[in-house]
Amino acid sequence: MARGERRRRAVPAEGVRTVERAARGGPGRRDGRGGGPRSTAGGVALAVVVLSLALGMSGRWVLAWHRARRAVTLHSAPPVLPADSSSPAVAPDLFWGTYRPHVYFGMKTRSPKPLLTGLMWAQQGTTPGTPKLRHTCEQGDGVGPYGWEFHDGLSFGRQHIQDGALKLTTEFVKRPGGQHGGDWSWRVTVEPQASGTSAIPLVSLFFYVVTDSNEVLIPEVGSKGQLKFISGHTSELGDFRFTLLPPTSPGDTAPKYGSYNVFWTSNPGLPLLTEMVKSRLNSWFQHRPPGASPERYLGLPGSLKWEDRGPSGQGQGQFLIQQVTLKVPFSIEFVFESGSAKAGGNQVLPRLAGSLLTHALESHAEAFRERFEKTFQLKEKGLSPGEQALGQAALSSLLGGIGYFYGQGLVLPDMGVEGTEQKVDPALFPPLPLFTAVPSRSFFPRGFLWDEGFHQLVVQRWDPSLTREALGHWLGLLNADGWIGREQILGDEARARVPPEFLVQRAVHANPPTLLLPVAHMLEVGDPDDLAFLRKAFPRLHAWFSWLHQSQAGPVPLSYRWRGRDPALPTLLNPKTLPSGLDDYPRASHPSVTERHLDLRCWVALGARVLTQLAEYLGEAEVAAELGPLAASLEAAESLDELHWAPELGVFADFGNHTKAVQLKPRPPQGLVRVVGWPQPRLQYVDALGYVSLFPLLLRLLDPNSSRLGPLLDILADSRHLWSPFGLRSLAASSSFYGQRNSEHDPPYWRGAVWLNVNYLALGALHHYGHLEGPHQARAAKLHSELRANVVGNVWRQYQATGFLWEQYSDRDGRGMGCRPFHGWTSLVLLAMAEDY
Ligand SMILES: *[C@@H]1O[C@H](CO)[C@@H](O)[C@H](O)[C@H]1NC(C)=O
Ligand SMILES: *[C@@H]1O[C@H](CO)[C@@H](O)[C@H](O)[C@H]1NC(C)=O
Repeated sequence: MARGERRRRAVPAEGVRTVERAARGGPGRRDGRGGGPRSTAGGVALAVVVLSLALGMSGRWVLAWHRARRAVTLHSAPPVLPADSSSPAVAPDLFWGTYRPHVYFGMKTRSPKPLLTGLMWAQQGTTPGTPKLRHTCEQGDGVGPYGWEFHDGLSFGRQHIQDGALKLTTEFVKRPGGQHGGDWSWRVTVEPQASGTSAIPLVSLFFYVVTDSNEVLIPEVGSKGQLKFISGHTSELGDFRFTLLPPTSPGDTAPKYGSYNVFWTSNPGLPLLTEMVKSRLNSWFQHRPPGASPERYLGLPGSLKWEDRGPSGQGQGQFLIQQVTLKVPFSIEFVFESGSAKAGGNQVLPRLAGSLLTHALESHAEAFRERFEKTFQLKEKGLSPGEQALGQAALSSLLGGIGYFYGQGLVLPDMGVEGTEQKVDPALFPPLPLFTAVPSRSFFPRGFLWDEGFHQLVVQRWDPSLTREALGHWLGLLNADGWIGREQILGDEARARVPPEFLVQRAVHANPPTLLLPVAHMLEVGDPDDLAFLRKAFPRLHAWFSWLHQSQAGPVPLSYRWRGRDPALPTLLNPKTLPSGLDDYPRASHPSVTERHLDLRCWVALGARVLTQLAEYLGEAEVAAELGPLAASLEAAESLDELHWAPELGVFADFGNHTKAVQLKPRPPQGLVRVVGWPQPRLQYVDALGYVSLFPLLLRLLDPNSSRLGPLLDILADSRHLWSPFGLRSLAASSSFYGQRNSEHDPPYWRGAVWLNVNYLALGALHHYGHLEGPHQARAAKLHSELRANVVGNVWRQYQATGFLWEQYSDRDGRGMGCRPFHGWTSLVLLAMAEDY
């Protein structure tokens, strides 16, 4: 089974065919900056009325048309970030970055039409046939562990990559200056994994530059396929020049002999770069260092002539790639110089290479270490050097995974009729940028809404300005109704990683509003720049929250229900609830509109509380008066009890049409089929002890004197239920769903495994109640320190054993599971180590 096809994605079966149509036929797919449809809701409404009068259309049809328009119309509140906020003039420091998280190493500009650079490599002569070309991060290519040892999110990073017998180190440093985002330099070092291996590997590195439109690249050829430099000009970058310096031995300046090949063609489309290089890597060349015996290697055509085999070379951009082949060990530097970066007196700056680069890298590394300790104080808190290194890698890999995406999402409008087949095509969302961290460079290299709230909890401790950028971009995705799609697949590179049937986001599906967690932290800390940001962001945050609270309203006041549960197919043990983020966590066995979801109610309560605080702080009296009472009602113990306390279970629970008596049984020829036994489903509390049951505790909604706190701590601390030596399990070991597959093809996901995001919330809550006077204070404090030791200890052991942070951890033996590297919310291990909640 293709692991992860099931992850966090709804499968809108009826949308599949139409998606491809929309994706192909959509106007302006590769278009640049043009704004999308921005008509205001009022304008649209007026047009609708006029149109319907003129044509005598039925009200139903008009309503449908109107809803469809609004789904892909941007919200009218003023943008949080001005349109030019990513430009080199406004944000020069952030213009260049490692914003291509899905490649092992590459940089690009924050631009709708970026200039992109990247690295590929291959070990020659290991196996007959084509060498294995490394470029994009893959789960199954045998590369790893890999990840950033240091990355400051701005100007410097050092990454290590293990690839079989090879050890690669990729470093970059940026140097500000001029009006176009400044200069940068890379150093790539390749060494043998173990010293004293018999055959010294012959390795090819491929450095490439890609443009996406009419921009100009002019290669200057030296001898034997070696480029002297590439000069160029774009409107955003002005004049610039790339130089690939001669290879040296690592830590040395003596040049090493290398063989050169070059290839220059039109941009085949970003998703096709690897394939294009692979297909052109078909001629044999000789590597003949003086005084050594020659060796054959596979190379690119070699001579520098423009090859354009596409139907139209115009306006597609260029793809220029230099291959260098030599024996390990070696280092190579690749330098970008901006024409406008000048020293004082308009003098040319010395090139950031050789010893100057070594010095810059060392001083950045030193500054990183100091700032890291100052920010997180792991050393002072007594964590071991190894654990400190884990913390640095967690932060660095999260920051090094920040991407910049630009493109159009596909949206299926909400037609307001649940459970009926929607006869409507997905539509293209206006083209928009997104600056965001990603859950996993290999598996989820794109934006995920609820993950991002957790990511930014870590990022904001390190650099609050990065968090403002990310939140500002996410809030820019708000549609006219106040909805943000939970998975953002923007641009060709991101889209190429997702099968067409998973591209569509439904405008009725929500996702936990975790972006409010970093917002709450901003309010708590009170950094003036954050507060100024919140003032601008407020109308959008309010619209987003209002949409959530209204669109996901439940069957009775103050109850809430996730829209978009999977339909009750005979092959599913328990129809999933992807919008909740907890995918296959068991809910009512028979989906219905009578459901009340506990986690969602708690998220809304948290949202109401944060928005009320924000409104009060900003003097937004009207909103404070609207949301204050809502927050109070949602936090009131009586109302929570009335809707969610299950006396027969002794915990808080979901409510719905439910029976425990469901099972998957083999039924040839269909395979596994769900069988419903006795008792039949009826309206009742859902017996599924796990993360959902803990939500009033996790989000700190209970009074420390609440009589409900004790029972929640009981199930949390009981190893028959949620406690494991590796952290809290997602579903109690005592549950009948524990460790169960949801269908023949769908292994358990949130049915027992330990997840870091929820364990972090639990640690924060235990820490909180451990500091408030009440009957459970001492117990909460004790549980906090035990849970922290378990979670941190296990992530550390798994990191030592595998070199990776993992998506989830086994509650049985602590093993890392799911995809890796998962430097998204698993990086919260750093805040757990720092006891920063
Ligand atoms: C619960 O589900 C069953 C099976 O679909 C259905 O027959 C029954 O009417 C439902 N009960 C309620 C109260 O919705
Ligand atoms: C909990 O109860 C104790 C004893 O009655 C009281 O001192 C304390 O202030 C209460 N805590 C809160 C947060 O109300």
